[in-house]
Order: sequence, then structure tokens, then C-alpha cells
Amino acid sequence: MTVSEVPTTRPIITVTRRLPPKVEARLTTMFDARLNSTDIPFDAAALSQALASSDAMITTLGDPLHAATLHAATLSGSSEVRTKLLAHFGVGYDNIDIAVARELGITVTNTPGVLTDDTADLAILLLLATARRAGEGERELRAGNWSGWHPTHLLGTRVSGKTLGLVGFGRIGRAVAARARDGFGMRVLAWSRSLTDQQATDAGVVRCATIEALLTACDFVSVHVPSTHHTRHLINAERLARMRPGAFLINTARGDVIDEIALVAALRAGAIAGVGLDVFEGEPAVRSELLELPNAVLLPHIGSATDETRTAMGMLAVDNLEAFFSGRVVPNPVA
Ligand code: NAP
Ligand code: GLV
Repeated sequence: MTVSEVPTTRPIITVTRRLPPKVEARLTTMFDARLNSTDIPFDAAALSQALASSDAMITTLGDPLHAATLHAATLSGSSEVRTKLLAHFGVGYDNIDIAVARELGITVTNTPGVLTDDTADLAILLLLATARRAGEGERELRAGNWSGWHPTHLLGTRVSGKTLGLVGFGRIGRAVAARARDGFGMRVLAWSRSLTDQQATDAGVVRCATIEALLTACDFVSVHVPSTHHTRHLINAERLARMRPGAFLINTARGDVIDEIALVAALRAGAIAGVGLDVFEGEPAVRSELLELPNAVLLPHIGSATDETRTAMGMLAVDNLEAFFSGRVVPNPVA
């Protein structure tokens, strides 16, 4: 038997994508970590194979762990999967069929909180970039088309003192509220299912009883709800029509919360002034109509993409693995 064939008693952990170096180093000291050195995303077959041959996995939002993939990994003649924990690298876990995972005895954890500030910063970046036409300006300059300063060049919309509406008022929504209020003197309105007037007042915002009331009242709307069956196309044609003609829509949550076809129609008709998107319905594919719209600022899902945050997310995923395999309660179970 060669050294590499010596049986290991350490749990086998498959990691579907490259992680920051400190996280991979920690994983390899603690576990029999199967790292993805190519960083090529796993297809459904590779995911099922990993589920069937690992004790746990670190997954990301690009891993579609739907019912069929989870079921395909069950051990023959049983309803069990070898993988007992999916330590998801991310706060949103809409790529995982949680009900089926539970049914198969798989625990799922996520990485909330550590990415809140950076994602809120990115929502503000998009808000400013759309209002102040930063994308248009950058493209013009790089194309060599800037003819110099003049009083009516690239006039945007003032942000300071305007009204911001938050669809979803959880960790990231609240962090955006604080930045908008304290940094830009904005009046902030918020809507979510369970938000009370008292909670809103305590957080320095005004609660809207309905999403419609919020959309009608705001100059900027920023979306911060998870992707679920209830939130798919929450912002649809009817609701886009409620927004003010000069209003801007920002989405750093998930692409499918907005009906993109309706969004393109609203932008083309001038029903809203612009949009800032970090997430897309079919990402990484982006609708060509959006690419053609000058008043759309488009980013490749980089809300949490700082070295600090991605390392913290990885460390939190490893904390969950460590707790699970030590028989302790996992810190971040998904409800
Ligand atoms: P969170 O703290 O759980 O907040 C979610 C908010 O959405 C809560 O206010 C919740 O309040 C509300 N909500 C949930 N379901 C709803 C529904 N059906 N209708 C209306 N409101 C609903 O989550 P978070 O940490 O702020 O993260 C929010 C989302 O941002 C994540 O799920 C993820 O998809 C996305 N995200 C994206 C990036 C990025 O890179 N762009 C980074 C991090 C997170 P109620 O329960 O009261 O409704
Ligand atoms: C990123 O989009 C996340 O949900 O963490």
C-alpha cells in the first residue's frame, strides 16, 4: 500500500470551487479536503457523485442542488446520501432544494452576517452609479468620446436628501438604510412581511404597509429579499408601473426577484429612470436587451467580493463543518 492509499479517518469534504487560500489551508489541515484545483463548476453528475462519495461539501450558489441531483446521490436501496452536511458558502441558498435535503437527512448551513457590510456597500455603489450615470461616463471616456467639461454634460440625479425604499429589511436592507440615512441624508422607507412600525421606528426608517405603497413613494428602490417561491417576480410589470418615472431600481439580492422582461420594457418606455443590477435571472448569462440599455449599470454578482469577506465566509463555512464533525450544534443552520 502506498502512502496515498492509507485509509483516512478524517471526514472527506468536497469543495466545489476554489476558496481563498487561508480557507483552503485550514480545510486541508482539518479534513480530507477534495479541492477543485481547476475551479471549473461541477455539473449535475459531478455534484451527485460528490454527494455520494463525500461526508460533507462546501457548495456555492452556482451549484444547482435540485431534487433530481440530490436523489441521484442516494445509496442504492436506501433514501440516504453519504454527504451529511452542505456547508453552503453564501447567505442565499436558493440553489439548494432544502425540503429534499432535509428528507435525505442532510444538514444545510450558510454564511450570514459576514457579508452584510460589503453587499450593502455595493448596493450604495449601484445606487450612486445609476443616479450619477457613472457607467455611461466611463464608457464615453474610454471610447475617446469625451469632448471636455461643459455645463450640460451627463447630468444625473441628486441622491442626497432623496427617498429610498427597501424591499426586505433584514441584515443587508438595514445596513443599506444606515448608509443611506447617515451618509446621504436620505429618508428611508422599508417593507417586509413581518416588519412592525415599532421595529421600523427603532431602526430610523418608516414602515410601508404594502410593497405598492413603497414603490409609489420612492426615488430609489433597493431589493433585499431572498429568492423563494414567494419572491419570484415580486417586482413585476404591475409593480414597476407603480414606480415614479424618475425612479431608479437597484437589485443586489437575486435576479429572479425582478421580472427582467418587464424591467426591460419599463426602461425602454422610460417608465423608470434606470437600474443597477448585481444579479440576473439567468446568470451568468445576461439578457442582451439589458446590455444595450445605457441607463442600466450591470455588475457580475460581486456583492460580497472582497478578500476580507470571502475569507470570512469560508472560515464560517469551516466553523460549521468543524462543529458538525465534533458533534456540536452547527452555528448557522438554514431554517
Ligand atoms: P435576511 O437578513 O434574511 O433578510 C431578508 C429579508 O427579506 C427580511 O427582511 C425578510 O423579512 C424579507 N423577506 C423574506 N421573504 C420575504 C417575502 N416573501 N416577502 C417580503 N419580504 C421577505 O437576508 P440578508 O442577509 O439581508 O440577505 C438577503 C439576500 O441578499 C440573500 O438571501 C441573498 O439572496 C442576497 N445576497 C446577495 C449578495 C450578492 O453578492 N449580490 C450577497 C449577499 C446576499 P420578513 O421575513 O419579515 O419578510
Ligand atoms: C451571494 O449572493 C450570497 O447569497 O451570499
